[in-house]
Amino acid sequence: MDYKKKIAELINSKVHLEVEKIEQLIEIPPKPEMGDYAFPCFQLSKIMRKAPNMIAEDLKNELNSEGFEKIENLGPYINFFVDKKEFSKNTIEKILKEKDDYGKSNIGEGKTVCVEYSSPNIAKPFHVGHLFTTAIGNALYKMFKAEGYNTVGINHLGDWGTQFGKLISAYKRWVDEEALEKNPIDELLRIYVKFHKEAEKDPSLEDEGRAYFKALESGDEEAHALWKRFRDLSLKEFQRVYDILGVKFDSLAGEAFYNDKMDVVIDMLKEKNLLVESNGAQVVMLEDYNMPPCIILKGDGASIYATRDLAAALYRKKTYDFYKSIYVVGTPQALHFKQVFKVLELAGKDWAKDCIHVGFGLVKFADRKLSTRNGEIVLLDDLLNQSITKTADIIKDNESIENKEEVAKKIGVGAVIFTYLKNSREKDIVFDWNEILSTEGETGPYVQYAYARAKSILRRAENVSDTVDYSKLNSKEEFELIKTLESFNKYILLALDKLEPSILTRYVIEVAKGFNRFYNAYSVLNLEDEVLKATRLKLVEASSQVIKNGLALLGIDVVEKM
Ligand code: ARG
Repeated sequence: MDYKKKIAELINSKVHLEVEKIEQLIEIPPKPEMGDYAFPCFQLSKIMRKAPNMIAEDLKNELNSEGFEKIENLGPYINFFVDKKEFSKNTIEKILKEKDDYGKSNIGEGKTVCVEYSSPNIAKPFHVGHLFTTAIGNALYKMFKAEGYNTVGINHLGDWGTQFGKLISAYKRWVDEEALEKNPIDELLRIYVKFHKEAEKDPSLEDEGRAYFKALESGDEEAHALWKRFRDLSLKEFQRVYDILGVKFDSLAGEAFYNDKMDVVIDMLKEKNLLVESNGAQVVMLEDYNMPPCIILKGDGASIYATRDLAAALYRKKTYDFYKSIYVVGTPQALHFKQVFKVLELAGKDWAKDCIHVGFGLVKFADRKLSTRNGEIVLLDDLLNQSITKTADIIKDNESIENKEEVAKKIGVGAVIFTYLKNSREKDIVFDWNEILSTEGETGPYVQYAYARAKSILRRAENVSDTVDYSKLNSKEEFELIKTLESFNKYILLALDKLEPSILTRYVIEVAKGFNRFYNAYSVLNLEDEVLKATRLKLVEASSQVIKNGLALLGIDVVEKM
């Protein structure tokens, strides 16, 4: 049951304030002694010209308390205590009936959301920073889908740009074909780094690179064939990582896809008189908005990153008619997106306001920042493999686990994803293995362990009575846990509203903690009272279901034993 709504309707029948407005004002009191929901009367005080304390006292007496244990007032607040038995029964039965669908809704029906995430660069390693966008985007994608939105997951591959001209030049000069087949990205990176070193000594190399890119842009066959080979080889490597992570996309339309869709951008900007020449380049001036100009065409007429993003935005609007278009890209690119969205707005696209950049911080090990130029990068492959190996080592002596390899993979990968999604995304991540893989503290393994523990109780339960009595779940620990389970959907919606998966991660941690508090305080299997045992088992089952559903939305698998 939707108690907030019920309370709002109850209050609405007595005062002149809309149901929705009242619903927004309803709070969850900080302490259970203050009830389960509270309505502050300050707003009413303005309308009714009466002290909020007095309104609370009068109104409390007028409200019909059916379905509630009691309604009290404390100062300017009306506190609602729900009928615990009803609440527990409704919540647990709903979870056990809806199972994997619990938490879903159709609030987004008829609305399309584009979520762009991952977007690695071809011929460059998939490093630990890319998992940040991949994990956040994947979680947002799953959450939007769960709430009924038509969701389009886009991998905007970095597969176009002057660097591909340089790569072709480097390929022609220095490639080791054998190495390219064996370790494509390593070899492409090696010749790319070499190109930059050599170009410092011989600047004419830069011109050669530019010429090759020009050839590529105008459809030169040889250049195109080489580009395609680099792209295919890289994609194969990326796919391996996506398979480990269980991440999928609906579209792989990357930067190259827009090569032949640039005219629309140029025409639009010309038509609106936005394009001006500056130092030989064509730009849109943004000084009125305190931003540097947005470069559209370089001196040699080649398009750049921003041009392709403008083309992509127009294409996505035309193709998907999105309600929102989200870009999960590191915070260092915040200015780029502000410029792109501003140019769209100046060009009269009122939907520019629906384009949202979702930024995130850096990934650090000890104290070095990751970059691709100086070779000091940490590959995601290595990170995931390390996590899996370390986990395998931790569980190696546990004889109850039959499928150790699979379990090590799920826990190891899950622990890494969890670390990325645990704190607000703008914060930097500092990796510390002891912390990440510990089953104590706020970690992936901690939550997964709570799930496995619950499943183990359910497996061991025998001769369970068919009779349950929810009034028996009357301890503080039990009722707090049930209240947490009930608020799952609310936290998904909150996470979507703030485009912040960590809100859901924190919620899942709360469920695991609540479950452990309950389990540490009370027996479940060792009980004389068969009805109490059956009822507590329902709570155990409901808790495991919510942990499973919550982790699934974050892109993390559960394990039955660990
Ligand atoms: N490929 C870029 C990078 O790795 C990210 C692309 C972001 N998306 C975009 N629409 N510009 O830095």
